Amino acid sequence: MKRESFGSRFGALVAMAGSAVGLGNLWRFPYLVGENGGAAFIIVYILLSFLICLPIFVSEFVIGRRSQKNAYAAFRDLSGGSAWKWIGLVTVIVPLIVLSYYSVIGGWSVEYLLKSITFSFTGTDTLSSMKTMFTDFVSSPWIPLLMHTVFMLVSTLIVMVGIKDGIEKFSKVMMPLLFFMVLAIAIYSLTLPGAGKGVDYLFNPDFSKIDGKACAAALGQAFFSLSLGFGTILTYASYVDKKENIMFQSTATAVSDLMFALIAGVAIMPAVFAFGLNPQSGPGLVFETLPYVFSQMPAGGIVAIVFFVALLVAALTSSISMLEVAVAYLVEEKKFSRTGACAVLFAVCWVVGALCSLSFGPLADFKIAGRSIFDFFDNLSSNVLMTLGSLMTVLFVGWRLKKTDIYDEFTNGGTLSANAKIFGVLWFLIRYVCPLAIIAIFVSGLI
Ligand code: PFF
Repeated sequence: MKRESFGSRFGALVAMAGSAVGLGNLWRFPYLVGENGGAAFIIVYILLSFLICLPIFVSEFVIGRRSQKNAYAAFRDLSGGSAWKWIGLVTVIVPLIVLSYYSVIGGWSVEYLLKSITFSFTGTDTLSSMKTMFTDFVSSPWIPLLMHTVFMLVSTLIVMVGIKDGIEKFSKVMMPLLFFMVLAIAIYSLTLPGAGKGVDYLFNPDFSKIDGKACAAALGQAFFSLSLGFGTILTYASYVDKKENIMFQSTATAVSDLMFALIAGVAIMPAVFAFGLNPQSGPGLVFETLPYVFSQMPAGGIVAIVFFVALLVAALTSSISMLEVAVAYLVEEKKFSRTGACAVLFAVCWVVGALCSLSFGPLADFKIAGRSIFDFFDNLSSNVLMTLGSLMTVLFVGWRLKKTDIYDEFTNGGTLSANAKIFGVLWFLIRYVCPLAIIAIFVSGLI
């Protein structure tokens, strides 16, 4: 049977950008920027994204497109059947873990979208009542579980339809919509009286805040935001046409991801400051602070709906990319039908996600290594396994594969002269700079 592929350049691009743009852009980036020195942090983030993360992105792209296989088989076949395949298997499993808890948060977005449609924030007019609303919701057993089920089901159905008609079509419609929604909120947010303080928070450069920790935070965020080390870019790349330019596609994805993060910052921070609030990171920002802001601002009911649709879309285009990694593996290696693979993976992620969901309520006292189930999986995958996956990817490309093969794939058989010119620099970055940088952040995260 012919292997599926993306139908167009734009389709491949929006699918990859869809994987990259997610909760990481909307709820973590703006906060990290403000905390770590504003524009100074943005400069560091851009440098690290392009010097370290882009070469890793290209490495995943090369492995995927060269092999035209799922992550496990790609490592296995390109290394001539060696133990590298186990690394491939890790990159199949990690996105499933992330998906399980990502889906819980996706479920919260569904619930908050419903709350915004029914105008539940209007009238809840103190920040502490928003906090209570959120805590009551996440700690209750059933509704978060139901919402997790809905989110996981929608993700699974999109992937079940296939690469071209499911993932690509969904991303083609949703990514431009997402862009306009976040942009519209940003423009509106800037018009609020007092918005300037939020802009200062984001963009006032404070170089004194740039230290090892800030760099580690920037690099960690860039990894997660670009979906590196999870097998997703590799898997999507395996559906990209051999005629496409790897450098162009990778750079375009990294640039879109950055643009989204910046626009999200401008959408969120000026509004938060306009209402005299302190920014938080993560769930607290989008499920407590922002609903309060929406309850106070003119036309906030509508802005809330647009925001939660955007959050949901951003989460969905990321979750489908995580699911596809394991679907490709089961279909190609274990001879599952696409539908069968989706059904099995739905069940697995549902169960793991349900445990994560319950860890905010009935299972709150159950700890693994001192953390709640949710925190344990989040920490394990986004700190340890993601770093390991990225490190192995660059070591594989830089030290295990043949340089001539990488050159051939990167330059489309020598026909892309601009890529041929920069290959030397890229190779140096992949071979030496990236592995050392990854080890450095990993170690600095442990200290
Ligand atoms: N890049 C996504 C975000 O910023 O939210 C998260 C993500 C997607 C991580 C896909 C891993 C992945 F495989």
